[in-house]
Amino acid sequence: MNESAPLLEARDLARHYAVSRGFFKHKGLVRALDGVSFSLREGKTLAVVGESGCGKSTLARQVTMIERPTSGSLLLDGNDVAHADVAARKKLRPRVQMVFQNPYASLNPRKTVGTLLEEPLAINGTQPRRARRDAGLAMLAKVGLRPEHYRRYPHMFSGGQRQRIAVARALMLDPRLVVADEPVSALDVSIQAQVLNLLMDLQQEMGIAYLFISHNLQVVRHIANDVLVMYLGRAVEYAPKDDVFARPAHPYTRALLASTPSLAAGRRRTRITLTGDLPSPLDPPSGCAFHKRCPHAVARCAIEVPLLSTFRGIRVACHRVAELNP
Ligand SMILES: Nc1ncnc2c1ncn2[C@@H]1O[C@H](COP(=O)(O)OP(=O)(O)OP(=O)(O)O)[C@@H](O)[C@H]1O
Ligand SMILES: [Mg+2]
Repeated sequence: MNESAPLLEARDLARHYAVSRGFFKHKGLVRALDGVSFSLREGKTLAVVGESGCGKSTLARQVTMIERPTSGSLLLDGNDVAHADVAARKKLRPRVQMVFQNPYASLNPRKTVGTLLEEPLAINGTQPRRARRDAGLAMLAKVGLRPEHYRRYPHMFSGGQRQRIAVARALMLDPRLVVADEPVSALDVSIQAQVLNLLMDLQQEMGIAYLFISHNLQVVRHIANDVLVMYLGRAVEYAPKDDVFARPAHPYTRALLASTPSLAAGRRRTRITLTGDLPSPLDPPSGCAFHKRCPHAVARCAIEVPLLSTFRGIRVACHRVAELNP
């Protein structure tokens, strides 16, 4: 985390949804994202981890400008996209592209690979057909596919190849930032590493930053520079990857690590397991949202919301962080 201006900066970002709770009841409010701050520099990877429903995809939708945050600011290259008008957002949108979990659903089965790759250029640019085709073919080679694949349809490819096509399509407009929401979790384990390595090679070559969403900590360990651990819409730990894996400071981060067998093996740290279900986001626990599942919770944890604050150079939201990390 150095002095150069970040490519992306979220400050106290929130997204709330009003949801129906049933007949004759007042509407409830889901705080899917509740005051999250982080920054991401050019060419780097920030991994966002946490259990299902903690707000990872909600964050992705704010960053890709699919939705507008309820409050807070989101600076892309210094432009606050949260408050920008429609025209300004439209102009900034191509700079952020998305890769989804399921390449089977994200690629239109009726279009050839060539059409899928050229489409973003045709919609956004003024390049002649020939130039679009050259750019598409060049991108296909970059993601490790061959020229003869250009005229084929998505169903003619394996899962890993399809995800390569999805990555190629996302990169056609030369984005500065790619938001990847569980990009390898639908793939066979043997293929996951190949796609991750491809993403890392492309990052090196093109200087792209990744906001990389994953519940798989092994994947995160491979690809991330920094890690943001989320719990029920809030950040509980935000630190460089090496710190998160070597010295997880928050009890929730420790529990997540302990629940990944290959990472937990050989650890001397007392093993904490995640017991109990994730609480309902419509009715989150008072105080620290994690306190009901936390083996270290004390009375204060049920009353006072812990704020993300600096502890030995990293950011942690836990009242007991100093005692738990002597
Ligand atoms: N449009 C919406 N309307 C109402 N609630 C929503 C909406 N979108 C998301 N939510 C709620 O916000 C919370 C966060 O959802 P989100 O999809 O961001 O979680 P996630 O971390 O991506 O989970 P997963 O790992 O399962 O993909 C959930 O409780 C979800 O039900
Ligand atoms: Mg999600």
